[in-house]
Amino acid sequence: MKNAIRTMVSTIAVCALAQTAVVRADAPDAPAPEQVKKGSAIYSQNCSPCHGPRMLDPQGAFDLRIFPRDEKTRFLTSVSKGKNQMPPWGGLLSADDIEALWAYTIAGEK
Ligand code: HEC
Repeated sequence: MKNAIRTMVSTIAVCALAQTAVVRADAPDAPAPEQVKKGSAIYSQNCSPCHGPRMLDPQGAFDLRIFPRDEKTRFLTSVSKGKNQMPPWGGLLSADDIEALWAYTIAGEK
């Protein structure tokens, strides 16, 4: 009886894992690891003074860990044009750089 339960539990675990893999593969905007890495480097140079090292300690600035994942356009606009106390970055960073920052933001800090 114990064995049957164990088998059942591990079957469920395997199914859950398989499902996660499928969802990941299907996600059209799952960021590429090299984009995330690039974004992370740009972030630590330009954004960390206000938003906190590795997004972890934003103080008065926006907590990027909770930035809505479905508002990419807002992210691109706010970052390139600035918002209130935040300076615009469009003159300093390329569109590609800002895309990488978005990848880093949605991937999150591990
Ligand atoms: C000088 C400090 C400072 C720096 C440097 C800075 N930010 Fe900000 N950022 C802020 C502040 C303050 C806010 C809150 C603005 C508001 O909503 O009033 C903010 C808000 C944001 C928001 C949310 C905008 C929205 O639509 O609500 C994003 C996204 C963001 N910053 C990304 C970045 C990125 C990416 C960088 C690096 C390229 C960066 N910030 C660098 C101060 C800064």
